[in-house]
Amino acid sequence: MEDKNKEMLKNEGDHFSKASRIKYFDIVIKEGHGAILTDEDNHQYIDLLSSASSTNTGHAHPHVVKAIQDQATKLIQYTPAYFATEPEAKLAPRLAKLAPMEGPVEVAWGNSGSDANDAIIKFARAYTGRQYIVSFTGAYHGSTYGSISVSGVSLNMTRKIGPLLPGVVKVPYPSSWYRHKGESEDEFSDRMFEAFKLPFETYLPADETALIMVEPIQGDGGFCKAPERYLNHVYKFAKDHGILFAVDEINQGMGRTGKMWSIQRFPKIQPDLVAVGKSVASGLPLSVVLGRKKIMESLNAPGNVYTTAGNPVTTAAANATLDVIENEHLVERSKRLGKVAENKFKQFEQKFDFIGDVRLYGLNGGIDIVDPKTGKPDSKNATRLIYRIFQLGALMITVRGNILRFQPPLVIKEEELDQAFNIIEQAMQELKDGKIKSPANLDQIGW
Ligand SMILES: Cc1ncc(COP(=O)(O)O)c(C=O)c1O
Repeated sequence: MEDKNKEMLKNEGDHFSKASRIKYFDIVIKEGHGAILTDEDNHQYIDLLSSASSTNTGHAHPHVVKAIQDQATKLIQYTPAYFATEPEAKLAPRLAKLAPMEGPVEVAWGNSGSDANDAIIKFARAYTGRQYIVSFTGAYHGSTYGSISVSGVSLNMTRKIGPLLPGVVKVPYPSSWYRHKGESEDEFSDRMFEAFKLPFETYLPADETALIMVEPIQGDGGFCKAPERYLNHVYKFAKDHGILFAVDEINQGMGRTGKMWSIQRFPKIQPDLVAVGKSVASGLPLSVVLGRKKIMESLNAPGNVYTTAGNPVTTAAANATLDVIENEHLVERSKRLGKVAENKFKQFEQKFDFIGDVRLYGLNGGIDIVDPKTGKPDSKNATRLIYRIFQLGALMITVRGNILRFQPPLVIKEEELDQAFNIIEQAMQELKDGKIKSPANLDQIGW
């Protein structure tokens, strides 16, 4: 029967909160293996999203599946809030060793990226004894009250739910589209750093500021890397004023950018705190704060405990995930295939005048769809494109309305990547030729 997707969505229909899903395509995912997904009507798709960068090792990786199965037969849950378990005790030092900073590091477990960022706010306030937190426009740090308060990418994340966490100040992220024509990257960095300093010069006492929290490469904010000079300035400012510097690696970590952590693209920076989630356990609910020991020691239990955080099954999955990343050289693979993808998208940029910019960092990036006449974002055509790509058998979505999100599993086969590019090119050609049709619900798709 061809209608299982529809039928299941109808069943879910009246019973699922609309705040909990961004609308894209009417499918129900049944299975995933590697980079290939199958829906309930047995249509197959090349996954170019990795479930929001949470399955970097691909779907149902056999090594991860086995680790989950083996652990589940032994012990599904005992809370690390009371007692350690073997996979959890093994994972903590393993992750601490991978942390992108020198010196002793401790870890704290969470259930979601959002609560890892909440934890960072708690640790920073506890350690510094200061209250203010600085974050960036365009940031997506999560959906709990703390993490949504430091986010700045959608009005729906503020609308109707205030008051948010007090003491949060947002400064503009140096996204490439704010760069003036003819402005060099250094000039842009310096101008944006002036804007960063403005609050500190006018109302925000630096000596009462606990934390600067940043995505070195913003994900949902548009797949945009902060210029190195800019982030170095911000980092130095933090160090000069005793402010902790935290990076959110939930989206861009775990090999996604061709480095283990995106902050490793900034050789002069060693963060104090790092938030990790999503792909760390190949998509099982586990998040991690990696932090300097002295900072992590500033809170006492139960200042940051959750019953299921660091649960044996999720931590067994995380150990297996690290094995796969190491054994299959996924960090290098992301870098190498990321170059292939970049070349391909740059070719498309030459061919299709509605591509405004291509930003690739490993197998990971954003492609801006613009009105060629004005250069302004063109969300409608971006939506038409992702819809056509979906019809042709690949899954891509948009962020910020007009930016195509490209984040395939790092295990994607080269022939699958080629096939995905053929699909994307066909959709773009149809758009150029005026042959692409709009989905009936065009205005409801995306965020
Ligand atoms: C950079 C970043 N931080 C935090 C989060 C929140 O993670 P979670 O949805 O697991 O709470 C996300 C999720 O998209 C993210 O991309």
